Amino acid sequence: MGIPQVVADDRLPRDVTIYEVGPRDGLQNEQAIVPVEVKAEFVARLVRAGLGIVEITSFVHPTWVPQLADAGELLDLVDVGGPVRMPVLVPNERGLDRALDKGVREIAIFGSATETFAQRNLNRSLDEQFAMFEPTVVRAREAGLDVRAYVSMCFGDPWEGEVAIEQVVDVGRRLFDLGASQLSLGDTIGVGTPGHVRALLAAFGAGGLGVDRLAMHFHDTYGQALSNALAALHCGVTTFDASAGGLGGCPYAKSATGNLATEGLVWMLRGLGIETGVDLTALVESSVWMAGQLGRPSPSRVVQALADSTG
Ligand code: HMG
Ligand code: MG
Repeated sequence: MGIPQVVADDRLPRDVTIYEVGPRDGLQNEQAIVPVEVKAEFVARLVRAGLGIVEITSFVHPTWVPQLADAGELLDLVDVGGPVRMPVLVPNERGLDRALDKGVREIAIFGSATETFAQRNLNRSLDEQFAMFEPTVVRAREAGLDVRAYVSMCFGDPWEGEVAIEQVVDVGRRLFDLGASQLSLGDTIGVGTPGHVRALLAAFGAGGLGVDRLAMHFHDTYGQALSNALAALHCGVTTFDASAGGLGGCPYAKSATGNLATEGLVWMLRGLGIETGVDLTALVESSVWMAGQLGRPSPSRVVQALADSTG
């Protein structure tokens, strides 16, 4: 395919890592429970499309997120020990035990920048969340696991409104202090804008937490995800979370819709001359297939355009 035409920008990083979250963030928010065999096939297709990291599920309380209650079964159907990294979300020691039992090698804890979302998503106060994570991270690292940490509501909170940048940096620092190797800054409800992205990254930098340790996690509720990703790219961020076909959302934040679509990100990066190793045709085919399983079209514009152009 000759498009998009490549016009490279020397100011941008050469290598970008895509951290695919479709099977986890995408499917956690589906009304219907997707059969575990379909999830395993989705993961296999994403791996075949060349994604090097696929966050596949969560070991959370099954009544809190029934869509992912089959996490253990899914782990039996995929190759967590293979060359493709397959992290899982883990909030606490009980989740860690379940993950360790299945041979998981990487976990991600998920903190909140706001008090209200900590309570709604984790049943803990903002301070209590760290007490829950601390023994989880210690034990995970002792077991040789890598630990990523998310911070949610970095750009705004549906209950509290504006979120102070210093508050986000403070929560991020506390998660690093626990032993996280990378921090993913979440725009859970998709309200961020590029200037806000630059200001947040500058505040982390001023606090000694550079972009080499940060990832960005944009939801696309207001159509800002790709603009925000470009702003972060210009600031030197090289890891972006994205979801195949733009699936996604958070069941505990009703205004959260799909993530930045992986196809949109790959298309933009390709046009900028930044290769990711992803086979866009195979990825689009996976998203079209998954949309068929879910019974509705993918919201991703790139998926729609390429699916139309190939018939
Ligand atoms: P809790 O009810 O406070 O749990 O939930 P607890 O510690 O009081 O334990 C109560 C019972 O649950 C106990 O059983 C535990 O063993 C059991 P009992 O002794 O009564 O028989 N239990 C568990 N069972 C299975 N797996 C577990 C587990 N933990 C406890 N892991 C908890 C606290 C954190 C578990 C709950 O609030 C929860 O599961 N929350 C998860 C919510 C969630 O998954 N949200 C979506 C992911 S976050 C997100 O999407 C945002 C992100 O994408 C970034 C962004 O967009 O910003 C990452
Ligand atoms: Mg998310």
